[in-house]
Amino acid sequence: MTKSRKRRSREQPRSVVNAGSAREPGVAGGGAWKLLHADWLVAAPELSRESIDFLYADPPFNTGKTKASPARAALKGRAADATYVDRWDTTADYIAWLRARVAATLPAMKRSGVVAIHCDFRACHHIRLLLDQLMGEVNFVNHLIWSYGLGGSSPRRFARKHDDILVYAIDARRCYFEPPMVPATSARLRGKLKKATDVLNIPSLNNMAAERTGYPTQKPLELLTLLVGAFSPPGGTVLDPCCGSGTTIEAAEAIGRSAIGFDLSARAVEIAIMRLISRGSCEARSGQRRHANPKGRPA
Ligand SMILES: C[S@@+](CC[C@H](N)C(=O)[O-])C[C@H]1O[C@@H](n2cnc3c(N)ncnc32)[C@H](O)[C@@H]1O
Repeated sequence: MTKSRKRRSREQPRSVVNAGSAREPGVAGGGAWKLLHADWLVAAPELSRESIDFLYADPPFNTGKTKASPARAALKGRAADATYVDRWDTTADYIAWLRARVAATLPAMKRSGVVAIHCDFRACHHIRLLLDQLMGEVNFVNHLIWSYGLGGSSPRRFARKHDDILVYAIDARRCYFEPPMVPATSARLRGKLKKATDVLNIPSLNNMAAERTGYPTQKPLELLTLLVGAFSPPGGTVLDPCCGSGTTIEAAEAIGRSAIGFDLSARAVEIAIMRLISRGSCEARSGQRRHANPKGRPA
């Protein structure tokens, strides 16, 4: 078997229906959530028409690697065994994979809906053209830069320290947007808040961060809370079709949006469910303690 045929056969499950196991919606805090172990392409057509306010997708970036839990993830009971394949034979194959999935999801978007695709330097320029075609150049909203800072430098080039988040509206004239407020940096406005720009300075998670699940390429809650709050109304519905450890689902739930997550990896869905359940039980425990105090003060 040639090298490329061997690789194709390893990737076969990507195009096959993943035995989807629908889980019942869970209610932990604000919004309800639902997680499906399924291929995005298979689950998307099952969504109700015009039901989603905000689609945030953080798909594999086509790095050519298999992504695994960080080496120190085993510490403090974090998942150390999670992996996903992030490899296509060509960029054209990768873009065709993404095209099919975004296109299958558009009928589920509300007229005021917003679509954000998280990517990096490898495919950002291809994805921008893809979204121009699928959604219309006039519906381009933002090219957000997530500047995460952490990590090494390079002697050969400027260190690559940002991801790209491409944002399009279903209809740019009526899309939802609530500008997030962030701390001002200028001397004149020191101590005040100002509207965020398209460069989001948010550190990436270090291996010891309390929210770290051990899932590879987990994004920070701060980033997802900002995006969900900006592009979906209170009580709205958010979809993350490559939800990994469930960061988007947790952010949405915490700020009162309903959320739906899909992932091809059963382990990812398991980690996301555990994360949401433990968040719910922490809240329930602290709620009980508050009620147990006759003076109404938190115990
Ligand atoms: C970059 S990770 C997402 C990380 C996530 N944002 C987090 O904070 O944990 C990409 C995810 O896409 C999933 N994935 C890959 N192909 C998929 C497909 N066809 N359908 C659904 N999920 C897929 C992988 O299993 C992986 O969990």
